[in-house]
Amino acid sequence: MSDNVDRLVRPMILELEPYVPIEPPEVLAKREGIAPEDVIKMDANENPYGPSEKVAEALGAFSGYNIYPDPFQRDVRAALAAYTGVPVERVIAGSGADELIELIVRLTMDPGDQALDLTPTFGMYAVTMKMAGAEVVEVPRNEEFGADIEAIRAAITPRTKLLFLCNPNNPTGTLTPEADVRELLELGPVVVVDETYHEFSGFTVAHLVDEFDNLVVLRSLSKWAGLAGVRLGYGIMTPKLVDYIMGIKQPYNISVPAQTALFATLQDTDLLLQRVRSLVEERERMRGMLEDSLGVTCLPSKGNFLLCKFPDGQAPEIQAKLAKKGIFVRRFGDARLGDYLRISSGKPSDTDALINALKDLMV
Ligand SMILES: Cc1ncc(COP(=O)(O)O)c(C=O)c1O
Repeated sequence: MSDNVDRLVRPMILELEPYVPIEPPEVLAKREGIAPEDVIKMDANENPYGPSEKVAEALGAFSGYNIYPDPFQRDVRAALAAYTGVPVERVIAGSGADELIELIVRLTMDPGDQALDLTPTFGMYAVTMKMAGAEVVEVPRNEEFGADIEAIRAAITPRTKLLFLCNPNNPTGTLTPEADVRELLELGPVVVVDETYHEFSGFTVAHLVDEFDNLVVLRSLSKWAGLAGVRLGYGIMTPKLVDYIMGIKQPYNISVPAQTALFATLQDTDLLLQRVRSLVEERERMRGMLEDSLGVTCLPSKGNFLLCKFPDGQAPEIQAKLAKKGIFVRRFGDARLGDYLRISSGKPSDTDALINALKDLMV
């Protein structure tokens, strides 16, 4: 049989450069020929402490898995409203922040509409917007990787409907201040402020939702709450946008295990936020050792990760050699990031293993 199925696929999908996802530990271990328990995962900003212990208890005790979840997410939204202090009609949950990125794009972008991508940034924005047939205009961040407000203003045309502002930005860790977010909101397009790392940064613009109907704030439980594998995120926005998204999402997008995990998580926020503080401290301890002992420079970061610049041309080899030792870090295709590796904050033992491995590799 000759495989001629490409003729049935949308031409723009044939041309699309897909998002490069992170692999799970068992796949990484097999690739490098090491034991899965020897993998130190510092490549996806996951939480090395895992979820609250209450999550496993709640999942084990629950008995309603044979019944579909509430399509209107009533209890889930009420729980998120209580956690955030935002009125429930302004909150909607998604299967990860990723699903909400896709839903917002689906809600706003017609083929040919323009959207801005503030590069380097989280890769899913551009992929999702291109999938919708949008014309994605790159607006490079400035030298310190801050959002370049004047360049954004200059790039906006009557066809510009959407821009994503990752805040703090993944992978650079950079924070855009509220005054700049306000300026962006005043330009008119939907501004999605992705606050996936909110609990680490302690910063939000969610209160501006009362003032601007073109603001969408996204959050995730993947990082601070250790639920990356469960897939749970939420958005804060004007009730009208909540209603539209409610109308286009998959009816049962928050699975019963995900909602059970959420309720248990929100019973244990003190412990989880204590772990967040430990990861922030560990990020800075790691920075100190990278900079003082190894001469590596790291950008200031408000996330649970550091973007670190290695000596000229050495980053790919260092990444590969670390992987051979079971330590996984992330590198990006962006032309400005060739010499950089992004390293997630881990447990103290992870940092120590990383620094020891780098000392072997770099001297
Ligand atoms: C900035 C940013 N937004 C969204 C996501 C996706 O989050 P989720 O796991 O909730 O889909 C990530 C994950 O790394 C991220 O870094």
